[in-house]
Formats: sequence, structure tokens, C-alpha cells
Amino acid sequence: MLFYALLLVAVGKAAYSNRTEALPTSQSSVQCHDWGVHQGASVHVYEGESGRISCPLFSFPSLYNYNQSSRLTLLWYRQTNTHELEQPIDLRTHTFLKHRDSLWIQPATVQDRGLYICMLRNTTSCAKVGVQLEVFVRGGVCDGTLHHNVTVPFQKSYTLRCPDLQHLPNISHNVTWYHKCSRDFSFGLERQVKGDEVKIYNLLIGMEGPYTCIVSYKNNGHALQFTRTINVKPVSPSCGTEHPRILNPASGQIYIVTLGEDVNLSCRAFLPCMENEEQQVWWSIDNKTVEELADPRYSSPARSIELDDYGDQTVLKVLHVSEFLASDLQREFRCSTRNSRGFNTSIATLQKNVYIPSVELGCGLGVTLAVAVLLFVLYRVYKLEVHLLYRSWFGTDERSDDKEYDVYISYARNGEEEEFVMTTLRRVLEVELGYSVCIFDRDSLPGGTITDETLRFVGRSRRLVIVVSALSAVQGTQALLELQAGLVMLRGGRLRVVLIQYKPVNKQCWVKELRRARVALTLIRWQGEKSLPLSSRFWKQLQLELPARKHTTHTDTEHTVSHTGHGERKQAVESTALILDSLRKTVIRTPQKQSEQSSSTAV
Ligand SMILES: *[C@@H]1O[C@H](CO)[C@@H](O)[C@H](O)[C@H]1NC(C)=O
Ligand SMILES: *[C@@H]1O[C@H](CO)[C@@H](O)[C@H](O)[C@H]1NC(C)=O
Ligand SMILES: *[C@@H]1O[C@H](CO)[C@@H](O)[C@H](O)[C@H]1NC(C)=O
Ligand SMILES: *[C@@H]1O[C@H](CO)[C@@H](O)[C@H](O)[C@H]1NC(C)=O
Ligand SMILES: *[C@@H]1O[C@H](CO)[C@@H](O)[C@H](O)[C@H]1NC(C)=O
Ligand SMILES: *[C@@H]1O[C@H](CO)[C@@H](O)[C@H](O)[C@H]1NC(C)=O
Ligand SMILES: *[C@@H]1O[C@H](CO)[C@@H](O)[C@H](O)[C@H]1NC(C)=O
Ligand SMILES: *[C@@H]1O[C@H](CO)[C@@H](O)[C@H](O)[C@H]1NC(C)=O
Repeated sequence: MLFYALLLVAVGKAAYSNRTEALPTSQSSVQCHDWGVHQGASVHVYEGESGRISCPLFSFPSLYNYNQSSRLTLLWYRQTNTHELEQPIDLRTHTFLKHRDSLWIQPATVQDRGLYICMLRNTTSCAKVGVQLEVFVRGGVCDGTLHHNVTVPFQKSYTLRCPDLQHLPNISHNVTWYHKCSRDFSFGLERQVKGDEVKIYNLLIGMEGPYTCIVSYKNNGHALQFTRTINVKPVSPSCGTEHPRILNPASGQIYIVTLGEDVNLSCRAFLPCMENEEQQVWWSIDNKTVEELADPRYSSPARSIELDDYGDQTVLKVLHVSEFLASDLQREFRCSTRNSRGFNTSIATLQKNVYIPSVELGCGLGVTLAVAVLLFVLYRVYKLEVHLLYRSWFGTDERSDDKEYDVYISYARNGEEEEFVMTTLRRVLEVELGYSVCIFDRDSLPGGTITDETLRFVGRSRRLVIVVSALSAVQGTQALLELQAGLVMLRGGRLRVVLIQYKPVNKQCWVKELRRARVALTLIRWQGEKSLPLSSRFWKQLQLELPARKHTTHTDTEHTVSHTGHGERKQAVESTALILDSLRKTVIRTPQKQSEQSSSTAV
């Protein structure tokens, strides 16, 4: 009922402590002093078990002495949710038993929960108080939901008595004790079950935890029982003797604060074990508590327990200062603690922090790093393109030397490679990429020895591109001659050699000079169809190896010029090719004869 709730709030504990002044007026027997609902006296029982509600009016024996001589009558009422008015309890049923100062419910069911009111009256005086009964469903034998805690210091003795047992309506009863759900009480002589009690002579580790007693008895032929659990919490043997200490702020400790920002000052305190005593830890600003100051900029939430070592606690109490001001630096921030044994206090030393834009700096670094990673990934993917681009922008133009050709192409005649050189390699290098290419058979003029001519042409080229072939190794061929000339000049540092592999060639077929030089040379592999487009890896790799030409804006004009230039040159080349064609046969034939001669001399 609302009335009770209001009364509880209004009267509460204060009413109890001031009860001598607030004695009920005894002029009228109709007027009954109502103490409301006594919250602390709430009764919790398991369903199907006996419960006992004792009338709290007897908790103050100086007030109400319930015995024959005082001629006071104890009456029990109950208020259910369905009935607005208090109903007298029907004591004729077996369920309810009025026994001395208490009411037994044997057994309690869920329907029995609710508010019970005990009323004490005589002809001149009346008082009543309400007690709440809660009924819980028990989850198994070991359910310890309903319990109360007792703290016992280590190495001390303690006797566990089953609650309510001494108030039992029938003296004849049986008690069974369990510790942590077990009936095993072997702990040497340090602990034993004696009669209805458990006697702990010396509390040791392992004896803590829930002790459950199950009491069975009979009433009017009905077998009844109730269960109570006592949770034993061991505490340090020195419990109740020490004074509290402030651990932080420690001496020499400096709290860094940033002006204009929210600041949390942490106070850490050691609160020794104290039985049933509320120990205090608090922050004060210029000797005023946060509550006294009532400044919304300061707040201090409830302390948190960082460590609980058998009752010895380390707690954290934070003072939150929002938007720390310069004037706050002049104030005294003090953390204090107190219990009945003593007091301790410590002042926090504050220091202004130089503002470091850590977030901005961190963001900047993060972005830089991300960009670096992105660039690195891009570089890995577009390595060739990046190199080419770099060279075209920053590379030096090699063509300022006195050399005549960019590329001298060396290849084995009469092989598949010849076809490749003539139809693809030459065309792309000359037409598409605009390099000046020297092909011996085409560009050398008749007359003069082949060896001298070869050396002269190779010497006038910036690069020697060797199309590797199994046939290159054949003694006395033009290809071998070119290769040897190239490798000699390579060693002299006057020429760079690039290898192209058109078709995979077994390394064993390579000329031994080439095999030796291979390690230092770039080998570019033709990948068939895939390598045909100018954007393929093959051409990019090759371009990287060929002489650099400065990237200029007039590339297009240059391109067309080279195109037309090529057209003119093509005609000239074709005409000379006709002359050369006949010569070539003799050129090739002659070395073959030479090789025959050399092999015969070798034999
Ligand atoms: C009954 O109450 C009176 C005081 O009201 C007290 O003196 C007396 O001892 C009590 N008797 C018993 C048996 O408790
Ligand atoms: C009724 O009870 C009150 C309180 O205990 C007591 O002071 C008073 O004397 C009692 N009256 C009678 C008639 O017994
Ligand atoms: C008993 O102590 C335990 C912690 O050990 C706690 O969780 C529980 O709420 C306490 N019970 C009561 C009734 O205070
Ligand atoms: C107590 O236990 C004994 C033996 O187990 C039994 O004979 C007796 O009836 C029990 N008494 C009650 C009140 O349950
Ligand atoms: C008390 O218990 C005994 C034995 O269990 C039984 O015989 C007796 O009837 C009980 N008394 C009441 C009032 O039920
Ligand atoms: C201060 O502590 C509170 C929680 O206690 C937290 O929400 C807040 O972020 C902390 N402020 C600073 C500046 O550390
Ligand atoms: C606060 O109180 C302590 C002890 O009474 C005293 O020593 C200290 O000077 C006071 N501080 C301020 C800022 O008033
Ligand atoms: C606080 O406790 C420490 C450590 O026990 C002690 O050194 C200090 O003097 C104490 N301070 C006060 C104000 O009691």
C-alpha cells in the first residue's frame, strides 16, 4: 500500500532511532501507531519449507515487553495484493502457527508471499509494523541463493548455529550440515559437527564458503523442514586493528594536468579489514569535500575495489575535474581516508603539461605512413613503368656520344630467331620505338673483312642485343663473332650487352663465354603472343635496357619524322639488301668452311 511506502520513506530508520520521542499516543485504543514496513526484517524462504516471521516490535525490548504481566496481545494480519484491507491470519489452519513472538508458516507456498503485519495492543496502547515475506524456488540441494555472510578471522574459532533453530516450535528435530555441498567435515581436530552446531576451532584455508543446515521436524503429524546457508568469509587475523593508508598520491608523485582539458585524479587507498564498519575515502579541494563545494566542475564517483585480500582492500577513488583551469593549479587537492582506528591524508602535486598536439601528429604520421605504403605497393606493381618514366624525365640522353647506332642486333642466321628479328624485333625498335638499329647483314657494305667490319659496327653501337639461340654456339658463324666482339667490348666497358631469349634454350647449348657472362647480363624472355603488344612487359624491359632518350614535348613530331625518315631509309635498305643478299650467302659459307678447317685442325 502506498501509505506504507510513504510512511517508510518519511519515518524510516530515523523513526526507529527516535522512537522514544515518537511514542504512540495512548489516549485512544482505536488509534494504532503504524511503524510502516520494516525493510531490514524481510524474510526469505524457499518454497515448500518452513518460514519464520518474527515481529520486529520485539527487537526493542525496552519498548515492548511481551509477557503475561504487560498484558499486551500480539495479533497477526496479512495484506495480499487482492485484498486492500488487512486480513487477520486464520490460525486454525495447520499452515500458520503463532509461536511466542513469531509466526511460523509451515510450509510456505508462492501464494504466501506478501506483507505480514504484527500488532501489539492492550486496552490503552497499540503499535504495528509490516514485514515482507518472499518465497523462492529452490534450485537443487546445493542452492545457496538465500544466505548470510559472516566474516571470521583466520586462526580464530567460530561456532556455526543454524538460524531459527532455537525458535523451533517442536523441540524434537534433526539437523544435517553440509559444507560446500558435502557432508565431509574431516579437518582433523580443527573443525567438527557437535550436536546441532559446527564448531570451528581454528579457521584455516579450505574452511571458508557456504555452510548449509537442513532442519527437519514434525508438527501435527506433518513432516517439515527448512534450509539455511551461512557463508563464511575468512579475513586477515589482524582484522579490525589497522588504520587506513593513502597509497597515491605518493610522496614525490606528480600529476600532469593539461589546462582546458578534463582531468582525472586517482587516489588509491589501502583499507584494512574492518568488521561491519564503513571506512571512508574522499577527495577534498581546499579542505572542502566535493559535496560541500557543490561545483559541477568537480565530481567524484563511488570508489572501486581494485584488490580484496581477505578483507584488506585496495580501493580507487577518482576526482574528475572538467576543463581544468589555471586557477585550479593554485588549489589544494587532497585525498583522505578514515576508519575508527585512524586517519591518513595526502596532497596531489600538480604540474601543467605543455600542449603537444599528439592526435594531429599521430594522424599526420598515420597518413604519411599510409601514403608510403600505397606508393610502395604501386611501385611494386608498376616497377617497370616507374623506371621508364623516371628515365624519360630525369635520365641523361645517351645519344650525345659519337656512336652511330642505338642497337646492334646479333642473332643466329637460319634459325627461328632470324624470322623473329627480321619481322618483329627490328620493326618495333625502328618503327615503333624509333631506335637506330644496326643489323650487320643489312647495314654492312661489301668489301673489307667480316671480322673487322663486325668489330667496327659493334663498336659503333650503344647496345649489343644478342638473341640467344642454340645456333649461336656454332663455331665460325657471324653470330658467334658478334657475340665474342661484344663480350670483349663489354669487358672494356665500352658497350652494354642485353640478352633476349626468343625460345627457351638449354643452358648447356650456350657458348661458354656467354655462360660465364650471363650472371652480369639482363636476359629478357619473349613470352609468345603475350609479348606482342607494345605495352607488354617484354618491350618495357627491353626499353629500360636500351639507351635513354630525354623525354621531350616534341616526341610526336620526332615520331613522325622518324616515320618518314624510316620510309626513305626503308627504300635505301631494300635496295642495298638486294646487293647484300647475294653477298650474305658467301659470308655465311665462308665461316662454315673456316669451321670445317678449324675442326679438322683440331683433330
Ligand atoms: C515481563 O515484563 C516486565 C516488564 O514489563 C519484566 O519486569 C518482567 O521480568 C518480564 N517477565 C518475563 C518473564 O520476561
Ligand atoms: C499498555 O501497554 C503500554 C506499553 O507497554 C503500557 O505502558 C501500559 O501501561 C499498558 N496498559 C495497560 C492497561 O496495561
Ligand atoms: C556475501 O558475499 C558475497 C561475496 O563473497 C556477495 O556476493 C553476496 O552478495 C554477499 N551476500 C550478502 C547477503 O550480503
Ligand atoms: C531424526 O532422525 C532419526 C534417525 O534417522 C529418525 O528416527 C527420527 O524420526 C528423525 N526425527 C525427526 C524429527 O525427523
Ligand atoms: C514434536 O515431534 C515429535 C517427534 O517428532 C512428535 O511426536 C510430536 O507430535 C511433535 N509435536 C507437535 C506439537 O507436533
Ligand atoms: C575520467 O574517468 C572517466 C570514468 O571514470 C572516463 O569516462 C573519462 O574518459 C576519464 N577522463 C580522462 C580525461 O581520462
Ligand atoms: C587543510 O587542512 C589542513 C589540516 O587542517 C591544513 O594543514 C591545511 O593547511 C589546510 N589547507 C587549506 C588549503 O586550507
Ligand atoms: C599516512 O600513512 C603513512 C604510512 O603509514 C605515514 O607515513 C604518514 O605519516 C601518514 N600521514 C598522516 C597524515 O597520517
